[in-house]
Amino acid sequence: MFPELPTEKISYLAESVLKLSDYYIQNPNGETPWSEKYCQVAYRHYYLPLNFIRLKNVVRHGQDVGFFDGLKVFVDWGCGPGTASLALAADAKLKTQIEKQILYDISPAAVESFSDLHSDLVNVQKLKTLRLESAGGKSSCLVFSYSLTEINELPPGWEQYEALMIAEPSTSEDGRKLLLLREMLIKKGYYMWAPCTHQNACPLLVNSKHDWCHDRAAVTAPAWFTQLEQMLPMKNKTVTTSYLLVRKTPPLAKIGGFARLVGDSLEEKGKTRQLVCRGPQREFLTWMHKSIEPQILPRGELVTLPDDIEVKSNELRLKSPL
Ligand SMILES: C[S@@+](CC[C@H](N)C(=O)[O-])C[C@H]1O[C@@H](n2cnc3c(N)ncnc32)[C@H](O)[C@@H]1O
Repeated sequence: MFPELPTEKISYLAESVLKLSDYYIQNPNGETPWSEKYCQVAYRHYYLPLNFIRLKNVVRHGQDVGFFDGLKVFVDWGCGPGTASLALAADAKLKTQIEKQILYDISPAAVESFSDLHSDLVNVQKLKTLRLESAGGKSSCLVFSYSLTEINELPPGWEQYEALMIAEPSTSEDGRKLLLLREMLIKKGYYMWAPCTHQNACPLLVNSKHDWCHDRAAVTAPAWFTQLEQMLPMKNKTVTTSYLLVRKTPPLAKIGGFARLVGDSLEEKGKTRQLVCRGPQREFLTWMHKSIEPQILPRGELVTLPDDIEVKSNELRLKSPL
């Protein structure tokens, strides 16, 4: 997904990325300025590939729990270049089941300037106007990929969809807004399929004022990207994302047998701890060094907890490896 880039263009790209990053910081809820050349350049070579990695990871987590089963129509609302649609179609198994991909953005320039990337999408329709209800139904999934952050609430018609796939910037503010949306959706009778393995209150929302749930994915980038990053204050060896996969249908019961690693591995005196989520408590999976070899596991993955864990306050102490 990282396009080729001649070395002499790297400093122009760095300027463009900084300009768009400043724009987003100064206008956190503003629309992406798609008609500006600097925005198109920065998005194509920087934001798009990084968001694609994030979205591919979300798709993989969805596949782990069967979230996409039976879903055939995907509406990418606020699609921009179509980042989420590209990630959906990049999953070989999912691609065989998709019947239609609808791209919609308030700015048609966003979709048009990236149309060279859309040849792998399935039966794609690019719409300049969209009545959301018209594409809803039992096999429809409404996708918001970094687009809810630009509006205040879900657009009218969203309730007609069986499934919602939502990714948001992994900041405390946007991440906690997403957790409030989770709460609202559960009250309305929707079910969380991922990252949550339960439908109870979110321990990060309830038991902390600043925490937010987020996932981490590794970035494998070409050499020019490393050169680019040397000119930027932000580094991306890994990228984070906050996401929700939600359906009207409940997930399979087996999901309740899993827990999700929702923190990075922390080295402490005599133990290694990692925040884990399996219910409304804020709990840490704990390896006491005197009794077990610590494991370093990626944040965001599902784990099955062994039966012999010892619960000590907020620690789930492992006696045998995961
Ligand atoms: C940060 S970009 C994300 C683009 C893309 N989905 C991605 O993941 O890379 C947010 C997108 O939402 C679109 N957007 C904002 N308000 C919208 C609205 N009211 N209706 C449709 N699209 C909207 C913007 O034009 C922009 O393309």
